[in-house]
Amino acid sequence: MNRTNTQQPPLPPGDLDQLLELEQADRSYLLRAKEVYGPIFKALSGSHLCVCVVDLELGRQFLQEHGEALRPVTLELESLFPLGFMRQMRGAVHQKYRGILVKAIRSCGPARDSDLYSTLVAGHLQSYTENQDTHRRPSRAYVATLTGMVTSMLIHVFFGARPGTPFHEELIQGFNALGPFGLSWTIGPKQAAAFARLRSTLLEHQWNPGEGLTGKIVDADGLDKTMLGNLIYMVEMGRFDMAGYFRWLTWHGAHNPDYLEAIGRDPAATVDSNPSMAQAFALETLRMDQSERLLRKVEQDIVFQGFHIPETSTVRICLWEAHKSSQAFSDPLAFDPDRFLSDAPSGEAFSPFGLDRHRCPLSEVAIKLACAFITTLAKQYRLELTADGPAVRGPYHWEPATRFAVRLLSRDRT
Ligand code: HEM
Repeated sequence: MNRTNTQQPPLPPGDLDQLLELEQADRSYLLRAKEVYGPIFKALSGSHLCVCVVDLELGRQFLQEHGEALRPVTLELESLFPLGFMRQMRGAVHQKYRGILVKAIRSCGPARDSDLYSTLVAGHLQSYTENQDTHRRPSRAYVATLTGMVTSMLIHVFFGARPGTPFHEELIQGFNALGPFGLSWTIGPKQAAAFARLRSTLLEHQWNPGEGLTGKIVDADGLDKTMLGNLIYMVEMGRFDMAGYFRWLTWHGAHNPDYLEAIGRDPAATVDSNPSMAQAFALETLRMDQSERLLRKVEQDIVFQGFHIPETSTVRICLWEAHKSSQAFSDPLAFDPDRFLSDAPSGEAFSPFGLDRHRCPLSEVAIKLACAFITTLAKQYRLELTADGPAVRGPYHWEPATRFAVRLLSRDRT
């Protein structure tokens, strides 16, 4: 990082237009802006400068060279537990907590209980189909189904609580109270009360050896207030990310019925086979839609690639756009899961789970759960698209149209 002086380098090129508005009008806006200005350019995010980096290699280099001057933009959780969210930790503190988590994940094996997750998916989808002709807002009902499904899955992964047990049910209620309408960015009295209740439930629980990730962390004597708070909020944030991901998987399934059917018939489409068509479908959905951006707040003036990036700017490393590079992917705007079967792209070209030391530690779990979902859906149902429209920019992610809805038609009966 460099303190600039009177001869400071120029700001990156670009107009000072509001990024959100430009993007809401055109999802591909940044791809076109890159053609005009090159891979580093500026815009505005509210009243702050936002510098966009549309190139994975440059993004990686930026994070490597200037990591210490950057603060990841995410939920601020210090009011709930000491040291806050792992996503914002740095240095030795980050290494310590991330190390404990990664060790627990490794010793669990990513989402080992594939059968349990497939059964869980089947149960939630069946409940949806039983009422699908009576839902007043089928799109909302489907989102609620997916949210319930992934909450249950993550409660099992993290806390070892099996669906149907009182412990699982209590945790479901706790998370429903924490985020009844989606992830809450602001922590107010309601979130604090719901968080305190979840924390008590988990502290009072008698952990059996190796019971979920938390049981492993207890075994390793790693569960302090910071770790526990992080585990709760990982599930809270992760469940909405995963529900959004499953919604995109459904959307691509509805738009690619032949591929979905092939997954249903694919003898290798079990959750554990690697690579499988289901896995290719899950990865291509990440490439096309669910991997979006890394955001960093600049805490000290920076010079990068000859450009001045002032303190208080936000830097946005644009994954969605980088994943549409025609140098890295043939026909990059086409949905084509086979690209992951034939000649899988390297991590240099495809990085949906991040680029630096904050890279997602749950990436394998996320893919395994996605495979359990898409495989079960494909084996049991055909999808009838009943409402659709252009993708919309939701509060955190790009999402299928608000009204996007499907009917699930049982393969047994069609
Ligand atoms: C659709 C699935 C997911 C995607 C695409 C995804 C993506 C990402 C990305 C891009 C990062 C890096 C953020 C940054 O550098 O600013 C990240 C970090 C992280 N993710 Fe995920 N994630 C997914 C699912 C999950 C789930 C299900 C969980 C947990 C329940 C999770 C937990 C985390 C944590 C704890 C970090 C921060 C790690 C650290 O700071 O060291 N992710 N994820």
